[in-house]
Amino acid sequence: MSAMNFRHFLSSVVLSAALVLFSACGRPEVRVGDFSLVSPLPRMVFVGDGEAPFVISSRTVVYYPEGDEILHTAAGLLAAQLEQATGCRIRTSTRVPREQYIFLGIDPTIGDGLKDFQGPDSYCLGVEPAAVSILGGGAPGVLHGIQTLIKALPIPENPEACRLALPAATVFDYPEFPYRAFMLDCGRHFFPAEYIKQLIDILALHNLNYFHWHLTEDQGWRLEIKKYPKLTEVGSYRPGTRNPQTDELDGVPVSGFYTQEEAREIVRYAAERGITVIPEIDLPGHTQAALAAYPELGCTGGPYEVATRYGVLDDVLCVGKDATMTFVKDVLTEVMDIFPSEYIHLGGDECPKVRWAACPDCQRKIRELGLVASGKKTKEELLQSWFTSQIEAFLAEHGRRMICWNDVLCDWGDHLVGEPSKNTVIAGWMRPASSEIAAREGYDAIVCPVGHLYFSNAEALRLTGRESICRVYDMAVVPEGLTQEQRQHILGAEACLWTERVASTDSLEWRLLPRLSTLSELQWADPKWHDLGAYLPRLRHMTDLYQSRGWHWKTDIAAAWEEE
Ligand code: ACM
Ligand code: ZN
Repeated sequence: MSAMNFRHFLSSVVLSAALVLFSACGRPEVRVGDFSLVSPLPRMVFVGDGEAPFVISSRTVVYYPEGDEILHTAAGLLAAQLEQATGCRIRTSTRVPREQYIFLGIDPTIGDGLKDFQGPDSYCLGVEPAAVSILGGGAPGVLHGIQTLIKALPIPENPEACRLALPAATVFDYPEFPYRAFMLDCGRHFFPAEYIKQLIDILALHNLNYFHWHLTEDQGWRLEIKKYPKLTEVGSYRPGTRNPQTDELDGVPVSGFYTQEEAREIVRYAAERGITVIPEIDLPGHTQAALAAYPELGCTGGPYEVATRYGVLDDVLCVGKDATMTFVKDVLTEVMDIFPSEYIHLGGDECPKVRWAACPDCQRKIRELGLVASGKKTKEELLQSWFTSQIEAFLAEHGRRMICWNDVLCDWGDHLVGEPSKNTVIAGWMRPASSEIAAREGYDAIVCPVGHLYFSNAEALRLTGRESICRVYDMAVVPEGLTQEQRQHILGAEACLWTERVASTDSLEWRLLPRLSTLSELQWADPKWHDLGAYLPRLRHMTDLYQSRGWHWKTDIAAAWEEE
């Protein structure tokens, strides 16, 4: 095509697109949304009595205060989502619009005088016929208000044929818990950086505020570390995966890692959407990929290979060697430079002690430290406690806080097996009692029990319909019987998706949705209104929304609407 023809082609495309938009927005039928379908359920919704709705059209302007970079970005995100939902072109402006507008603002005092309604996550959303306002206690509140607005819109089968509107209403909203997370294992399988951004969009829609990124495993090290290039040169590739029954290698290589630049971009992208990325560098167990790259960090010196089997493997970092501590601090120094998150996850789970028991370096360290077995605490368990406490102190020196899996404190039988420092946040994954024990022992705790919140759990995956939803919905985040002070230690809930059997983004989404909506109800909504019958219409609305966005969701959940 010549330059002239190309320009003509381009202008005709632009013209026809404009015509489509014009006709799309000049549609006569108005469909009005419903705030009672928003999930997670907002705290308070006052419906405007007989007032006209706010109809979205290409005259709608998203208006925000001049010079506010955060709101500038939020306005762009709202406009883009409205365009996607309505097909109308939506402008943003810092000048008071003459026509109907949606105002975004931050007012840290909005909750003054209203019990519990405060903090940066809270927001007030008001809808009148000519104006909508979203006022957040902080930037996160504005972003949650935006998601509520989007979720309150109708999802017509043919948006081209109607105009969408919001009903007149006032919403006051804030979350139940400050920590609302989802974890993805990118060690067993790798998911491209572009897809991680899509995942962040999914999390943001559900009012989550943390993405826990499990970046290292026996089967793959996925984050570039400049000082230790072999971690990704060697550690990010495995030639295949062994069948647990036959031990045969399937010959399907798994590889990939995130450059530091990509990781920084994901941190930035997530922050714009109100989500903090918590990196996990799982130590000292689950480190066989690191050992394949740097065998001198193991007790036996290797050689090691990037694991091709799943499970709990015996070869772990040798914590008796000074070189290991230097390595870990170097790695964490780069990690802290990439990830501004206050929380850094250090793993600490499933670390067998067989190598340490036979290792002269580890045994020398145990003697030097004067560690003596007591109760269920072996001297090797106490060696892990010493190691994690050193890292905890190192992170604290840099203003960061360490999260560890509950293995560092208690085991499957709820016995106390370790003595992590009190500033450690314990992620209770083994049993609902694991986070309860942590809270009773005075640790801040995250609730993520395998039986309820592991979205990859095979047994839970076999459940369909209501049972599948109730496995999540009926879980008590705060166990009964904790004192008021102990309850304060429960920071919130997190779902985890391990990817031994998840090689594609479709199967990842299928496990994630719609249970993420159910999780968000636990994380955000007032437990006072916990009611499955009332939740199901909201869940159905969410699945319609997933459908409209082309996301993969577990459709056998639909049996839930039909069950008695
Ligand atoms: C875990 O599931 N090993 C934390
Ligand atoms: Zn050792």
